Amino acid sequence: MPIKKNQGKKPWAGRFTEATAREVEAFTESISFDARLWKYDIQGSIAHATMLAKQGIISRRDADLIIKGLNGIAQDIADGRFKFRQELEDVHMNIEHALTERTGQAGAKLHTARSRNDQVALDLRLYLRDEIQAIQGLVRGLEKEFLAQAQRHAGAIMPGYTHLQRAQPVLLSHYLLAYIAMFERDRDRLEDCLKRLDVLPLGACALAGTGLPTDRRITARLLGFKEVSENSMDSVSDRDFVMEFLSNAAILMSHISRFSEELVLWSSTEFSFIELPDSFTTGSSIMPQKKNPDVAELARGKTGRVYGNLMGMLTIMKGLPLSYNRDMQEDKPLLFDTVDTLKSVLTVLAPMVRGIAFKTGRLRETAAAGYSTATDIAEYLVKKGVPFRQAHEITGKAVLLALQGEKELEELSLDDLKALSPAFEKDVFAVLGPEASVRSKKSLGGTAPELVRKSLDATEKRLAKGEQQARKGPARKKG
Ligand code: ARG
Repeated sequence: MPIKKNQGKKPWAGRFTEATAREVEAFTESISFDARLWKYDIQGSIAHATMLAKQGIISRRDADLIIKGLNGIAQDIADGRFKFRQELEDVHMNIEHALTERTGQAGAKLHTARSRNDQVALDLRLYLRDEIQAIQGLVRGLEKEFLAQAQRHAGAIMPGYTHLQRAQPVLLSHYLLAYIAMFERDRDRLEDCLKRLDVLPLGACALAGTGLPTDRRITARLLGFKEVSENSMDSVSDRDFVMEFLSNAAILMSHISRFSEELVLWSSTEFSFIELPDSFTTGSSIMPQKKNPDVAELARGKTGRVYGNLMGMLTIMKGLPLSYNRDMQEDKPLLFDTVDTLKSVLTVLAPMVRGIAFKTGRLRETAAAGYSTATDIAEYLVKKGVPFRQAHEITGKAVLLALQGEKELEELSLDDLKALSPAFEKDVFAVLGPEASVRSKKSLGGTAPELVRKSLDATEKRLAKGEQQARKGPARKKG
């Protein structure tokens, strides 16, 4: 947005005898980044003017002029005709100044019984309320792609890892559902954040409230807030909701980053578990054979800035005396960057997940190799009455024997096994394959196919329900 840079009279200039230094104007301005709050600023001002008129603090006629003026400004900004001015510092003063230019005395009454301190707190809450809902929708979209892949590969088996060492066979769908579980918690945390956002700060004024007969409940109702903040000092100094959102965002990015890391590993020739779509990879300017997982790497890399924004915000708030301090203006670049980063990552990740080709043959083959059913042998022995610690020891010896003979476990003879424990019988060979291994994991939350099937169905239902609720729109989304 174009920003004009000439000095002019400030709305607060009354007690000053010198013009603000140019360097100070350049240093203190926030219009270069808070202009994006314009819609919310206007929305808040319309509600505020309406309340002022209802309470008889300004006339209905003035309120009408103000609202008409604000709508005109909104139209001009939307059409790119509005000139934001640096000497007017921020979005609040730019809009109020333009309104007064357009409506004269009426516009000059808008700032009655409010301050920029409660105004900016309001704008941020309105902004974040919208963005969180948009982000929840994008996370839901990503989950749908994970679910579609899980349903497509319902029977496929893969090696499960701990310490990045082959551990036990699991269903590919079970693995994909693990990520859905993380994303469901992420959405839930965001939902929780929305609850604490649902409080109107406007009307706290600078910090102490006002002597004018306002009714903050009217403003809250007009803007769709469930509650009115209880303490005026807290209202203007509270940025918990920003820190909370940035924390939620950081946790969400940690999930995305872990998955991205797996995409990078798995698409390597060494793993060869997946093929990423050509359209979601990039080439090398020198090595003609290369197909690089840059999207996954960038998603992993951008996690750094989202973590950084959280640390930045926590540090800004640390040690601030009550109530408002200008330091808090620095919340916006961090918040906006996290919102933008999350939205861009989620937007590119969903179609990429849709395009992943899982190499199910290779996954099964890898799941079957590397003694990954050793635990199943131990459990077999337990079922024959051998105490688990002994069963573990015996199976360890069987693994060692196989290692020494460069064999897989199923290539050991029954005699080899019987020499380790008389409890072994012919039926041991039935537990050695990855299919049998996976089938046996029937404990709640385990990877047995019938359990995973149920989990797939339940997840599908939950997602559909979440979508329906979002479409209906929560009661809070008014105004
Ligand atoms: N631009 C300011 C911010 O973002 C708005 C509030 C300024 N209030 C003040 N008294 N200087 O925090």
